[in-house]
Parts: sequence; C-alpha cells; structure tokens
Amino acid sequence: MKRIGILTGGGDSPGLNAAIRGATLTAIRKYHCEVVGLIDGFNALFGDGGPAIGPSFMNLGEAEVQDIHAHGGTILGTANKGNPFEMILRDEHGRPMRDAAGKVLTRDRSAEAAQHIRDRGLDALLCIGGDGTLALARQMFERHGVPVVGVPKTIDFDLAATDATFGFKTAVQVATDALDRLRTTADSHDRVLILEVMGRYAGWIALHSGIAGGAHAILLPELPYSPRAVWKRITARFRRQRKFSLVVISEGARPVDGGYAVAEQREHPDAHVVLGGAGARLRAEIEGLYRAEADQVVAAGGYPPDAPEVRVVVLGHIQRGGTPLAEDRIVATACGAFAVDLAARGRFGTVAAWHDDGPTEVSLAAALAPHFVEPDTTPLVATARSLGISLGERDEDER
Ligand code: F6P
Repeated sequence: MKRIGILTGGGDSPGLNAAIRGATLTAIRKYHCEVVGLIDGFNALFGDGGPAIGPSFMNLGEAEVQDIHAHGGTILGTANKGNPFEMILRDEHGRPMRDAAGKVLTRDRSAEAAQHIRDRGLDALLCIGGDGTLALARQMFERHGVPVVGVPKTIDFDLAATDATFGFKTAVQVATDALDRLRTTADSHDRVLILEVMGRYAGWIALHSGIAGGAHAILLPELPYSPRAVWKRITARFRRQRKFSLVVISEGARPVDGGYAVAEQREHPDAHVVLGGAGARLRAEIEGLYRAEADQVVAAGGYPPDAPEVRVVVLGHIQRGGTPLAEDRIVATACGAFAVDLAARGRFGTVAAWHDDGPTEVSLAAALAPHFVEPDTTPLVATARSLGISLGERDEDER
C-alpha cells in the first residue's frame, strides 16, 4: 500500500477531524504510506484537479493533521450532494437540466469516478460517512472494484452494526446543556418549552438528552404521539403547582394521525428531505387543546384557566458544530486508525466499526443496517416510562 485517499461525506459530525488524523498518522507512521485528502467528498473526483494534486485533492502529511483532533467540522469539507451514480446534468450556464415534467436529469458517472481513483494511484479509499456515504462506498466497491474501507459517523446514531457513531455523544451533550439552560428560564416564567432536536428518523438524541436533561415529555419518530397525552402531562404538572414543562421532540416525530414535519423538499435526486417544524406543530397542538378545554369551561359558565405560554427552541446545527467530546474523539481516532489497518490487510468492502471498547471489522453491507429506538425493547424507553416521562402514548392516562 503506497497511497491512500480519505474523504468525508454527508453531514458533518464532531470527531471527523480526529478520524482523519487517526487514519493519516497511522498510514504515515505505521505503513509509510502517502495520504491524499479528497475535498468535498465524492465531488473531488469530478473536479479539475488533473493528474497532479489539484484543487479537489490535498496532500495530508503530519503537519496538515497536527492538532485537528479537537476541532469540529472536517478539514476536507463534505457534501450531501455528489452521488457519482446520479450526477446532475447541467447546461452551459451551470443550470440543472430537466425533462419535460421538470424533473432534474442525472447521469451515472461512477465508472469515471472509479477510473479517476485508479489514475491517482490510490491503493485504498477511506470513506468516512453516514448511511448515504457508506451506501455509495459499497456501490463503488461492488460495481467498480474500488478498494474502499468505511468509517461510520453520524450524530443520529442510526447505524446498527456499530456500538458508537462518533458525533452522537457530543450532540447529546449539547442538547442536554440546552435543556439545563431552558429549565431555569422555563421555571422562572412558568412556560412550556419545547426543544426540537435532530436525528432524522431516529429518536436517539431526543431519548438520551431527554433523560439526561430531565425532560417531562420526550417525543420520538419511532412512537407516533398523541398530543392529548402530552397535554395531560403538562396539565398534571400544573395541578401539582409545577407550572413549567420541558418537552424534547425529535425533528422526525409525528402525531398519531399526521406525517413528518418537512421544512424543505430537496430537488436533488439523492438528497434527503429537510425535516423541521415538529416543535412548532406541537405548540399549535397544545394551544389548540387548551382552547378547546377553555371553550368548554366558558360554555359551562365557568372562568377559563390561564393559557399556557409555549415556546419552541430549534437546536439545529449547534448539535453538529464545535469541539467533540473526548469519547467521540477516541472512537473517531481508533476507527480511523483501524480503517487503515483494514486497508493494509486488503480487507476492502468493510467498515471500521466500534464494538465494546475498540474498533472491529464489519462488512459494508452489515454496516448499512439501520438502528432505531424500539419502543418495546430499548431499555431507555422503559427507563423513561418508569420515571413517568410522557412519551405521548395514547394510554398514558391509564397507567
Ligand atoms: O444526519 C445528520 C443530520 O444532522 C440530521 O440529524 C438532520 O436531519 C440532517 O443531518 C440535517 O441536514 P442538513 O445539514 O443538510 O440540514
């Protein structure tokens, strides 16, 4: 193994730089190998770098990776778009070309990408990414024989074949810190504060931070919620003179009779929809339930209770930025280093996953199995129920 390439793809995740450093130092010091970084994921393969190192590629030496382990983001850049199997066709002005129905046209340029990797003399390509990037890596391996090794990363923790995805712990800490801060202001003002967190269709960030941060309700994508159950939890606290409530809601949470809250439908064929608005929708649901109750009281000749003051905080990309926690750096560094070991042993089509307390080899196919909260078997769901945290379950009043 003389030369390896490293790319980072998909949304950034705290620990990416630690993984790049772990891989680079291992390649240089243990295998005396040259390391090249691809800029902006697979997009680098379509840049104008030419045969020498060009704008889409950078040499990674010891100097380039010095001290980067503590920094968020990725020094290589990343991209959600840039699927070699579905590259957007553009006109001479760079605008996407469309068919008669207005659908963006794409072309499979994966063979070209594979040839580019060979032309660059890369003996291995380390692909550090989440489900999207690892799926592309798998296709490049299976269809074009590209010698890939994956390293799983995602704040969402939605990959089953690894006990840890670096970035997740940091995201949970950020969300927990946010809850700690929201608690004091919610308490002071007797407010219902809803914190919307990321995680896409997996509720891990909400579940972990909700428990760590002492939330009164946690709403997960895997368990469609009854707004009435949440409202009952809030009013039960009111009756006990606890006039504030903290609710953590996953961006992918949905009411029993509703769909996902979608902020943006992306046009690119391989881009995910952008989730967003779950917190605002819950606020409207809570306010609607209050109004219905108040109307009934008035109709019966009574005086309605005070309306709840509900506020929504969308944590957003704060969860992904900034300094990674020590644990994420450790997983990232070890998996990055181990991925180079896998490449040196010719174990292509695999992933450096984390099991128990160290990195281990898993096939790329296995690494793509999804990991969701299981309402019936995930231990922390049982913990939440034991503590009386509302999960928005319909039958909560019967418990
Ligand atoms: O997959 C990571 C993630 O942060 C999700 O939790 C979130 O839904 C998504 O990426 C946001 O993507 P973007 O950075 O494109 O807005």
